[in-house]
Amino acid sequence: MLSLSVRPILFPLLRTPNPRSFLLKPLSSSYATASTSALTPPTPRTPCLPEHTDDPTPLFLRPPTHSVPSSSIAAFRRRATALVPPSAPHLHRHLRWFLADASAPAPSTPTDPTPPNHLLLRAPLDELEALWLAHVRDRRPFQYVVGNEHWGGLVVAVRDGVLIPRPETEAVLKMVGAVDGFQGGWWADLGTGSGAIAVAVARMLGPSGRVFATDVSEVAVEVARLNVQRYDMQDKVEIRHGSWFEPLEDVKGKLMGVISNPPYIPTDDLPGLQPEVGWHEPKLALDGGKDGLDHLLHLCEGLSSALKPGGFFVFETNGSKQSDFLVEFISTKWSSSFCNVEAVLDFADIKRFVRGYRR
Ligand SMILES: C[S@@+](CC[C@H](N)C(=O)[O-])C[C@H]1O[C@@H](n2cnc3c(N)ncnc32)[C@H](O)[C@@H]1O
Repeated sequence: MLSLSVRPILFPLLRTPNPRSFLLKPLSSSYATASTSALTPPTPRTPCLPEHTDDPTPLFLRPPTHSVPSSSIAAFRRRATALVPPSAPHLHRHLRWFLADASAPAPSTPTDPTPPNHLLLRAPLDELEALWLAHVRDRRPFQYVVGNEHWGGLVVAVRDGVLIPRPETEAVLKMVGAVDGFQGGWWADLGTGSGAIAVAVARMLGPSGRVFATDVSEVAVEVARLNVQRYDMQDKVEIRHGSWFEPLEDVKGKLMGVISNPPYIPTDDLPGLQPEVGWHEPKLALDGGKDGLDHLLHLCEGLSSALKPGGFFVFETNGSKQSDFLVEFISTKWSSSFCNVEAVLDFADIKRFVRGYRR
């Protein structure tokens, strides 16, 4: 049984891009630069989270055990609203979502011990106060504050140390769904992060379909396993700790598809990322080496032995330059191994993906 927080928002009605993600990516580039941000960075940057936020359980999944008078919550709302700068009106929306994710209605049973005019919170009010401050002042992404992101029809748990899944990545789901016989195949999601792709693909598969997902980050593996469990996909998804193809020796040559959104930002571009990304998201998930191609090239090298004949692959890239390069590279170097290799546009008409088939 999933314990999903009820958020009175429109997510299921929205098409991507999800407006929440615009805070992270107001431009068409997957990881926006500092100049796109509406807020002024704090100087110096001092994390303002109190010690007791060490609880790694995402806020929205914690039990609502803190009974707080409605008047105290109203006072918190006023203080939180006062912190919102006029230049960032979207924070009013975040505050509504934050309070919705952090609270639960008191059960209306005669035996309920919650006093009248009290609400149940998932964390003490002082912790919520600190979390809100971290979002507004330290530019901590909203998704890390509440512990989730809405992605691909899922509510994906996230926390510090794991990349927040981006709306453009949702396009890989449609590409997987267009592969002949995809439901019965074995798929790999390499660099799974939160496990968003792995879980969403697994939900599309039939009884014999499987997803093998790898990540070198222990935090990512932990969070991905949590998401697999929350969506009851343990029979279909196996999360394996290790580097790229290494943990997949036993399924080598048997995969119907390989999907990866690897780190692809050129190292020199990292300091220019907007604070929400550069300060808070894991470098391991972003840094693609000198040209951003280190991991993409490594993945290309491993493809032909991982895929079965006719198998499909799709990689996310930083944009046209990387996509064009990879299409040319794969088509030239491995013309006898791959066919129909092409760049695919994202919703902002940027060549975001490279896909193709093993001959
Ligand atoms: C851009 S994030 C993508 C996460 C997730 N697939 C998504 O789309 O939201 C890249 C992921 O690759 C992982 N990664 C980095 N180096 C890796 C390696 N050598 N082997 C496996 N995963 C790696 C990172 O930990 C991170 O989770």
